[in-house]
Amino acid sequence: MTFYVEGCSRMKFFIVLMLLSNLHFVFGDCPDCDGQSSFYNAIGCAVLCRRKSCPTNYNCRNVLEKYKAEKKCYFDGKYYDVNTTLPEKYPTRDGSGMCNYQCNYSPDPEGYFLTEVDCESNPNVPTTEQCNKMLQIQAIFVLQFNTAITYTPDVCKLGIIIAFNMPPTNCGGRKCCKFLDRSYKRGTVFRVFNNLCYCLCPPVMICR
Ligand SMILES: *[C@@H]1O[C@H](CO)[C@@H](O)[C@H](O)[C@H]1NC(C)=O
Repeated sequence: MTFYVEGCSRMKFFIVLMLLSNLHFVFGDCPDCDGQSSFYNAIGCAVLCRRKSCPTNYNCRNVLEKYKAEKKCYFDGKYYDVNTTLPEKYPTRDGSGMCNYQCNYSPDPEGYFLTEVDCESNPNVPTTEQCNKMLQIQAIFVLQFNTAITYTPDVCKLGIIIAFNMPPTNCGGRKCCKFLDRSYKRGTVFRVFNNLCYCLCPPVMICR
């Protein structure tokens, strides 16, 4: 745990609250990260810092390292060779269908990605577990290319946002939001197409 909390201001002060993590609810909402914690938890990122009992940013490097460790697709603890398909179907990014996911190598942008094949519409609302798997599948792209996302907790839907002409970098270090080749400090907001994109809970910017 100390590894992740290193360098977080006011950390010692609130260590007692962290240990009593059940008190989370007593202390109320966590406005910075409430909209994104379920996304980070689903894809396996760790809390990097907290203020009072609330996460303020996450560390996704361990997740990214798993993706990059082999020249294969990573999913849920296993690696899949190019052209092989995951053993089960999972939701589409908009939650409306169910698909097989096949591992493909992409030269540009370079990487190994699971892509939808043989999708069918799904009359049922996907389960939370199925949605979390979908988030894991999609997060490979989000974390490798530092895209922003659209995401609402408890809604089985993930948007991937890429932008042009973004404001200049205004942040350095590990506690920044990453958006493509830029870094932004918490509180940064700017418009991308019809969305406002916010750095609320780094490292992923969220657009609404
Ligand atoms: C994957 O499938 C494509 C198209 O059938 C083929 O060209 C390619 O060699 C295959 N790659 C691997 C690693 O099996």
